[in-house]
Amino acid sequence: MGNSTKVALVTGASRGIGAAIARRLAKDGFTVVVNYAGTVAEAEELAASIEKTGGKALTAQADVSDPAAVARMWDAAEAAFGGVDVLVNNAGIMRLATIADGDDALFDSQIAINLKGPRNTMRLAAQRLRSGGRIINLSSSVVGLYQPTYGVYAATKAGVEAMTHVLSKELRGRNITVNAIAPGPTATALFLDGKPQAVIDTLTKLAPLERLGQPEDIANAVAFLAGPDGAWINGQVLRANGGII
Ligand SMILES: NC(=O)c1ccc[n+]([C@@H]2O[C@H](COP(=O)([O-])OP(=O)(O)OC[C@H]3O[C@@H](n4cnc5c(N)ncnc54)[C@H](OP(=O)(O)O)[C@@H]3O)[C@@H](O)[C@H]2O)c1
Repeated sequence: MGNSTKVALVTGASRGIGAAIARRLAKDGFTVVVNYAGTVAEAEELAASIEKTGGKALTAQADVSDPAAVARMWDAAEAAFGGVDVLVNNAGIMRLATIADGDDALFDSQIAINLKGPRNTMRLAAQRLRSGGRIINLSSSVVGLYQPTYGVYAATKAGVEAMTHVLSKELRGRNITVNAIAPGPTATALFLDGKPQAVIDTLTKLAPLERLGQPEDIANAVAFLAGPDGAWINGQVLRANGGII
């Protein structure tokens, strides 16, 4: 069976890495559910451009931190396409502060979106993903680098990696793989916004390949895990970061 009958749900696909993943999976023949939280115009534009180039896409608004909203999105995807085969947990936020200075809102928002969000979608996937399915979680190379100010963000991603390993074992017998991709610095709003140019320049040179990751670099790695060539990879974290760590 080719990819043409398969359905991929990508969270946080309106912008950045998620949009590149949605575009790439559509190009590979997947029907794509483009989830977003608030950026409706960009999500609609992406879905329209996928459709214009012969692909199939549906937008789905849902705050991933809200279990009821996630369930409604999953129902809508199943109603439209009959089922879901690939879940990409990409939606995420990053709020930086030292442990000393970080307030409760910084902690709670990242736990809700980066940790509870993937839990919400993985719980449904564990119940309802079709046989042959793939779950791909976005972690980060900050798990490993552990720079100051990244404490809470890194903690959410370390939690995602832990769930990746555990769920891959819980799905024994279901013919479903669970893996994570851990990007390094990647040229999106999440990374670039609010950083002085000097900091961006330093981080750009950190990888031996001496450039920032592009959303397409990450989408390529996700496409590998989602496609036929990734079938034997299970319970792994793949760092896609140009060699930064
Ligand atoms: N960029 C990097 O350097 C980097 C490095 C390592 C890991 N990552 C990880 O890669 C993933 C994508 O990051 P990015 O750089 O592409 O970020 P981004 O450009 O800021 O885009 C974030 C996406 O997530 C969505 N989103 C945010 N909160 C959401 C929520 N509550 N429910 C549903 N969707 C939500 C946004 O939707 P709206 O547009 O509707 O707000 C947007 O589509 C994240 O998990 C991030 O932690 C990024």
